Amino acid sequence: MLITINNVLSKDEVRQFRSYLDRAEWIDGASTAGTLARKAKHNTQIDDKAEVAVSLGNHILRSLGEHPLFISAALPRKIYPPKFNRYAIGENYGTHVDSAVIHIPGTGQSLRSDLSATLFLTEPEEYDGGELEIESEFGVQTVKLGAGDMVLYPSSSLHRVTPVTQGARVASFFWIESLVGDDAERSLLFDLDQAIQKLTPGLGADEHNLIRLSGIYHNLLRRWAIT
Ligand code: NI
Repeated sequence: MLITINNVLSKDEVRQFRSYLDRAEWIDGASTAGTLARKAKHNTQIDDKAEVAVSLGNHILRSLGEHPLFISAALPRKIYPPKFNRYAIGENYGTHVDSAVIHIPGTGQSLRSDLSATLFLTEPEEYDGGELEIESEFGVQTVKLGAGDMVLYPSSSLHRVTPVTQGARVASFFWIESLVGDDAERSLLFDLDQAIQKLTPGLGADEHNLIRLSGIYHNLLRRWAIT
């Protein structure tokens, strides 16, 4: 399942982010890739330990914590501290799959990557190329979102970033371990939850059946969640 979550950051917040990121020190992105991915990865990143990465990353985590659509879609158990990357002209990331188990720096803990997230920090008009292409069962999905918007996609999928041919593409990216690791189960829960949310406002007399549906949601989550 591929889900777009709009307005994780407002345009004002994106402007603030960009003013910090434009002054930050960018290092070779290949230094943090696995052996196979390293050959495919041509971009720059901010060091995870840099103060700017930590503070902007925490800002993103706070925004996500208050975003009902994100919670409903991801059912997050652990979120990797958000990282930042930049693709200048000629840079790209060839087809790869993200590592399944990722060490969380400074914690001694690891995370199973169920979902990968890209939060766009440049507007589509600011660069050419730089599309995120995700191979799904329905073919290749091409993603290029407005600044402040985010895509969530299964970490199990093959994906790539096409070469930037004009301008630069700046984004935050990170991984999520979900309470529900199975993508199909999580998708069913998301659909059910969204349908319940849509039914809720105009309900009135049929409240009892809505409570039953809500009970089914929670009882499925109880079956499938690993906490
Ligand atoms: Ni990736």
